[in-house]
Amino acid sequence: MKIETTDLIIRNFELEDEKDLCEYMLQRVHAQFERYPDFTCQKSHEEIVSRAQSDEFFAIELKKEHKVIGNIYLGKRNFNSRELGYVLNENYHKKGYGSEASKAMVAFAFAQGVHRIYAECAPQNIASWKLMEKIGLEREAFFKKNVSFRSDEENNPIYWDTYVYAALNPNENTEIIDPRLSDG
Ligand SMILES: CC(C)(COP(=O)(O)OP(=O)(O)OC[C@H]1O[C@@H](n2cnc3c(N)ncnc32)[C@H](O)[C@@H]1OP(=O)(O)O)[C@@H](O)C(=O)NCCC(=O)NCCS
Repeated sequence: MKIETTDLIIRNFELEDEKDLCEYMLQRVHAQFERYPDFTCQKSHEEIVSRAQSDEFFAIELKKEHKVIGNIYLGKRNFNSRELGYVLNENYHKKGYGSEASKAMVAFAFAQGVHRIYAECAPQNIASWKLMEKIGLEREAFFKKNVSFRSDEENNPIYWDTYVYAALNPNENTEIIDPRLSDG
């Protein structure tokens, strides 16, 4: 897979990307969102081997630096849906690269016939939901305290709220048929 945009190439990971992967994944160890607390550079070889074989994780390469600055995730879900996710190296935030990559990925998936694309984030992750709105996903749901990734000192789960954003394939007939009105 390879998608080219103005500034970026979205493609499968390669083993040579290990150093770049390690650079941005180390930033996730103590991150507020999309945290990978157990990541170490010793684990990066295992991680790059797995990502290089994956058809759900894609590298975001910045053309002008020939550097992988993050990843896009497009996970396969039921009913021909995909879950979108993204992580960028912090040194490349707020330059429009996250939305450029995500917009291209969504367009690619819809061109392949995917029915629905959705993404989830905490309401406090403003960068994430602003990105989704910028690329045309709509807020469909707000779930109260439905996920927990950490516990407090007394080992009680800390629950977070979730926004769900989604878009339907604009090339499909997405007319909603009310089953109560159909003859069948
Ligand atoms: C989410 C993420 C990929 C955004 O990437 P990015 O390249 O910085 O985003 P963009 O530059 O394309 O910006 C998209 C929109 O978000 C806004 N934005 C970006 N960072 C922001 C921030 N920290 N606070 C408020 N708004 C922000 C931008 O202004 C832009 O909106 P606008 O054009 O309407 O002004 C990046 O912040 C990231 O990697 N975060 C850590 C991982 C993560 O949280 N992933 C999502 C888990 S749900």
